[in-house]
Amino acid sequence: MDLEALKRLAAEKAVEAVEPGMVLGLGTGSTVYYALLKLGQNVRSGLDIIGIPTSIQTADIAQREGIKLSDLATYPELDLTIDGADEIDPDLNLIKGLGGALVREKITVEASNRLIIIADQTKVVPHLGSKSPLPVEVVQFGWEVTRNRLGQRCSRVVQRQNREVAYITDNGNYILDCYFERIDNPAQAEVEINNLPGVVENGLFINRAEQAIIATQNGIHIQC
Ligand code: A5P
Repeated sequence: MDLEALKRLAAEKAVEAVEPGMVLGLGTGSTVYYALLKLGQNVRSGLDIIGIPTSIQTADIAQREGIKLSDLATYPELDLTIDGADEIDPDLNLIKGLGGALVREKITVEASNRLIIIADQTKVVPHLGSKSPLPVEVVQFGWEVTRNRLGQRCSRVVQRQNREVAYITDNGNYILDCYFERIDNPAQAEVEINNLPGVVENGLFINRAEQAIIATQNGIHIQC
């Protein structure tokens, strides 16, 4: 199976957990895309759910699929969120945010009773920081100062670009991608990075996921 087929497999498995009447957090990314397609199909067959999107991109796809959307002001407590991840460690801690939606994703997860992560096998790592940079969303004002402080904590900081201009998030901020060899104490790093002036949020999701549905060449593996 190619990567896209694996993503679809994980996504469609997660959608089996969606029950009628649920208010559902809708994550962002290329794996979640397949969950949105499946949800759209189920909605067209009569499933009644309300989706809370974590990005403009997800809202656009969900709308196209006919999924009813609302917001956290109307529904501050969600039944379930389905989202992707960039890295998953053996303790089910995550790096997220390569898709740029980490702030809205973290707020949505905070509002959610359950989080199911969907991924293909390439996202599984022995320790966080081994493959993916850690995305950190920062305000534009004085971002160079924030970058320098982040640089004291990791080996390299790169301002994310989009077609040679600075990438701007849905919240109007920059993203700084921080490269580590490994993040030894992710729980501590999550708090310490968020304490730096200018940081809005970072992509460490610690003890947030109930399970990860990981699609492998040998079938689905559920990590709890
Ligand atoms: C979006 O900001 C991210 O957190 C995504 O959930 C993560 O990057 C996984 O995306 P893919 O499913 O596209 O790999």
